[in-house]
Amino acid sequence: MLTMQEIRTHYYFTETDAELLKELFPLAQENSQAMVEDFYSYLLKIPETAAFLRDPKDLARLKKTHSEWFLSLFSGRYDNEYMLTLQAIGQAHVRIKVSAHYVNAAMNVVRRFLIEMLQASFPDIAVRRKYRIAVEKILDINLDIMSTSYQEEELRKVFVSHKLESKLIHAAERFTYGLNLILVIALTGVSLSVVTLFFWDLVHIFQGNFEKGILSALGSLLILWMMIELMDNEIKTLKGGKFNILIFIGVIIVALIREILISTLRHDALETQAFLAGTLLILGIVYYLVAKSQNFTAH
Ligand code: HEM
Repeated sequence: MLTMQEIRTHYYFTETDAELLKELFPLAQENSQAMVEDFYSYLLKIPETAAFLRDPKDLARLKKTHSEWFLSLFSGRYDNEYMLTLQAIGQAHVRIKVSAHYVNAAMNVVRRFLIEMLQASFPDIAVRRKYRIAVEKILDINLDIMSTSYQEEELRKVFVSHKLESKLIHAAERFTYGLNLILVIALTGVSLSVVTLFFWDLVHIFQGNFEKGILSALGSLLILWMMIELMDNEIKTLKGGKFNILIFIGVIIVALIREILISTLRHDALETQAFLAGTLLILGIVYYLVAKSQNFTAH
């Protein structure tokens, strides 16, 4: 954080400027009432700022506050205490949510008032110029310090939301990772069941039921093959890869083929077999379209 001395240096604000401003104090005091009238007629004309000045009791108090601030421009003392007061003023406006835009615009009103005041009081251009330069510097310093409160508030908001965002994203990532891990464990369980199914099909063959046994075993192997693909895909996802939806559709297709094989052996009703074949056709089309769109995005 800058000290008042550093700020003064950056604005080439010298002791001579401080003296010049102090010399202006009696003139500022004479004009403070008029300045406050200008300031308030401006603020009351804008609905957004007028909203802060509705209560007549508050208005009288605020006029006094703003007038005191105006006179403090010409106190001749511009030390760290002065800087802290300006920071507190900035924070007061941030707290009540007066937009920085209106503070800047109000400062412009004060600037114009002071330029006219100097114009009316100092006909000599050289004299007026040195006072004007000192006035411009102190107004800019005021605005600079008051604006810092707004910038700090913005930074605080960005910092808080950024921290919250990254924490949320991190938590969501951990959650998805956990879900994927559960999925891999579940897939291992299902794969083991398919292996059991395959051995059960082999038992059918040894029991003499060749046709059913061989077709079922073939179907089970197909499912097992797709399960391996699915698990491989899941493990890649866990390692940070992309999930391939095609494999998922492939597993359903293979499971359906197995069901069709068994259904023909069971001599199921024609409608059942037609339904299964129709579903297989639809899934085949979906598979084809997804594969095509994946090829399209890859190129
Ligand atoms: C040149 C720009 C401005 C200066 C130098 C200034 C100065 C001040 C000062 C010295 C205070 C007292 C702060 C405190 O209690 O610590 C104050 C408070 C206040 N100002 Fe300003 N002001 C400016 C612009 C505005 C504008 C644009 C509005 C809009 C209506 C406004 C509305 C208020 C209000 C409502 C308070 C009372 C805050 C509270 O209750 O805490 N001011 N201002």
